[in-house]
Amino acid sequence: MKLLTTYMDSFLNSEIVEKLKIRKEEVFEKLTQADMNGWLEPDISFLPELFKVRDDVLSHSQCLVVIGIGGSYLGSQAFYSIFTPHFTASKFPIIYAGTTLSSNYMSELLEYLKDVDFSVNVISKSGSTMEVSLIYSAIKKVLESKYDKEELKRHIIITTDASCGPLREEALREGYYSFSIPSNIGGRYSLLTPAHLFPLSFCLDIQQMIDGYLLGLQLKEEAFSYAVRRVSMFYQGKVVENFVSYESNWSYYLEWLKQLFGETEGKDGKGILPISMIHTRDLHSLGQFVQEGNKIMFETFFKVNQGKPCLIHGRELQQINLTVEDAVISAHVSGRVPALVIELDQVTPKSLGELSSFYFLVASYSGYLFDINPFNQPGVEVYKAEVKKRLGWFYEK
Ligand code: PA5
Repeated sequence: MKLLTTYMDSFLNSEIVEKLKIRKEEVFEKLTQADMNGWLEPDISFLPELFKVRDDVLSHSQCLVVIGIGGSYLGSQAFYSIFTPHFTASKFPIIYAGTTLSSNYMSELLEYLKDVDFSVNVISKSGSTMEVSLIYSAIKKVLESKYDKEELKRHIIITTDASCGPLREEALREGYYSFSIPSNIGGRYSLLTPAHLFPLSFCLDIQQMIDGYLLGLQLKEEAFSYAVRRVSMFYQGKVVENFVSYESNWSYYLEWLKQLFGETEGKDGKGILPISMIHTRDLHSLGQFVQEGNKIMFETFFKVNQGKPCLIHGRELQQINLTVEDAVISAHVSGRVPALVIELDQVTPKSLGELSSFYFLVASYSGYLFDINPFNQPGVEVYKAEVKKRLGWFYEK
C-alpha cells in the first residue's frame, strides 16, 4: 500500500498544521489509555471454533442470513461485496438483513427463505437494537417452521456481548452457537471480531485479512499525518471529505468508511462530513458540484494499480481507468479541491485488511484532535428515544 500522495499541501495553513502536529504524543497516549481500544490487540483465539461452526453451517445450509446494523455488519458487507464475483452466482451467498424496515424487502426475503435451507447469524453487541430484534424474530419464525429444536441449534448463530443482553441470555437458554464481541471493542471497530470474521469466513481467506489488519496497525505515523491534514482542512473550511473509488464493487466499503467517520467524529458540533463517490459514474452527477460548486470539500482517492486483464482498443482498461483518475485529480485540484491518494497494488483480503485498520487509526486520531471521544455515539440515542415513544408495544413485550 502506498499512502498519502498529497495534492493538498499547498492548501494547508502551516500554523494550524503545526498546532495539530505537536499533539502527536498526547494523541498516541490517549489511544493507548482508551478503554475501548481492544481492536489494537485483537484476540483471535475464537478462530478454531469459528471454522468448526462455519463447516457445520456449510454442511446443511445453502446460504447465511446476517442480521445486524451499523458497525456490526457494514465491514462484513463491504468485504463480501468486493470478494464475491460480479456475475457468477456465489457458491454460498450471504444475505444481509436488519438494516431497513422495508416491508417490500422483508416480504420477498421471507418468501424466498421458505424454500431454502439456511442459517442465521444475528449480530448485536447490545442484543437489543430494535431493527435487529424485529427482523430476527421474523426470520426465526421461518427457521422454527422448518427445523425442530435440536436442529435449530445448528442453524442459529448469535454474536453478542460475552456476558449480558437478551441475545446472550437466549444463546445460553437455547444452546445456540454463539460468539462474543469483546466489551472493549465498539461496533464500528469490530472488524477482527466474530461479528465480521464469521460471515467473511464463508467467502474469503480471513487469515490473509488478519495478516493485513496487523500490518495496518503499524502505520501509526502515516495515520497521524493523515489525521492532521484532514483536521486542518476542517479548520480551514473544508468540512466535507469525499472518498472516491474507481471500482464499482467498493460502494459498501465507502459506506463502511462513512459509518466509521460519521459516528466517530460527528459530535459537539464538530466533525468532517464523510461522503463518497464511485467514478466515473458520479462525475456525471456530483462531479459538477465538486469542480465548480461550494468549496467545502477535500477528497481522498483510492487507486488500484492492477486489475483483471481487459483489452479495449489494444489498451488495458485498468490503465485507461488510472489515466482518467489522474486527470480527474488534476482537474479537481485546479478547481481548489485538495486531494490525497492512497494506492493499492491489488485488492486482496490482505491489502484491504491493512487499509481498514489504518483507517481505524486515522479515525481515532482525528477524534482526539477534535477533542471528542472517538468511541461513543450518543447522538444515535436521540432517534431511538423517539422511536421508543411510538413503538411502546415492542419494547414492553
Ligand atoms: O458502530 C457502532 O457502535 C454502532 O453503529 C453499532 O454497531 C450499531 O448501533 C448496532 O449496535 P448493536 O451491535 O448493539 O446492535
